[in-house]
Amino acid sequence: MGVEIAVEGLTKAFGKQVIWEDVTLTLPEGKISVLLGPSGTGKSVFLKSLVGLLRPERGHIWIDGHDLANCSENKLYELRRLFGVLFQDGALFGSLSLYDNVAFPLREHTRKSEREIRDIVMEKMELVGLGDAGAKLPGEISGGMRKRAGLARALVLDPEIILFDEPDSGLDPVRTANLNQLIVDLNAETQATFLIVTHDINTARTVPDDIGMLYRRELVMFGPREMLLSSDEPVVRQFLNARRHGPIGMSEEKDVSELEAEASMGQDPGRLPPIPPQLLPSDGRLRPTMRPPGEWLARHGVTAPPGSFVDDEGRDWVEEYPKLLMASGRSRG
Ligand SMILES: Nc1ncnc2c1ncn2[C@@H]1O[C@H](COP(=O)(O)OP(=O)(O)OP(=O)(O)O)[C@@H](O)[C@H]1O
Ligand SMILES: [Mg+2]
Repeated sequence: MGVEIAVEGLTKAFGKQVIWEDVTLTLPEGKISVLLGPSGTGKSVFLKSLVGLLRPERGHIWIDGHDLANCSENKLYELRRLFGVLFQDGALFGSLSLYDNVAFPLREHTRKSEREIRDIVMEKMELVGLGDAGAKLPGEISGGMRKRAGLARALVLDPEIILFDEPDSGLDPVRTANLNQLIVDLNAETQATFLIVTHDINTARTVPDDIGMLYRRELVMFGPREMLLSSDEPVVRQFLNARRHGPIGMSEEKDVSELEAEASMGQDPGRLPPIPPQLLPSDGRLRPTMRPPGEWLARHGVTAPPGSFVDDEGRDWVEEYPKLLMASGRSRG
């Protein structure tokens, strides 16, 4: 399951305002990718372009041999069924119960009977822990529950690509941790292709296989998690480590005088923090798209910051990973 999406030279503008240009990246099938960037850099616009809700000015979005950025409306309608989207605000219909919200895509896009629909809706609602909440209205539940209902709705058509726009915004740390685990488990189970937009540094550091960063109208970097977490590129370094020091200021870019002041005060970006181990599915197995900890760093001659790949219980995943790999019978792969 899962399909690859290859974005090539994509440019989006609204009138004269260019949001981003010449974005090229590949979301490999089954992988979890995270997209980062300061507010207003066009992350939501990027997700909306991927599903064809916005049409880019230039470039291509290749899926299954079709160019979603330049195809007919009919083809677009067909390709959209490959996607499940969790929108930034959940985007539930306020006057419909959670059950009817989750059932909506099935009633809209399939000819399934109400009995079949019921089975699917209940399965997905149980998956996100909302088995008993079907009769509630979106206005009667917490933000975290609304997110999970939005996720259940994104899943009902068994999508091959799932886009998450800030699934963790407005959630408390415990709920964010639970949601991250749910996302990793879902990926392990469905092996769909995932793209997550987030501002949560912990999510960005521990969940994805690949990370991308949008800044100043371009994709500054896109690649394996270890590449970005060990990067010296000032914007990437500042963002992924949540530092005040660096090119990004309150109004997105610091001006020259601010940067000079910073430099004259002798502030330096400091040492990179340890790279955490990647979050595993809760059944303790490996996802097929995971890479051994430290592999990218070793291949590129980069030394991991001290303390990298050690979990809260003190286990070093450079040693633990091969054992797990052996146990899951993928050692020959
Ligand atoms: N339909 C639209 N018409 C015109 N401009 C738009 C439209 N949608 C978004 N924009 C503009 O595109 C820019 C990027 O918006 P977007 O919502 O993608 O940012 P974002 O990176 O998702 O920010 P945040 O992290 O705050 O969610 C903004 O300047 C916004 O005003
Ligand atoms: Mg957004």
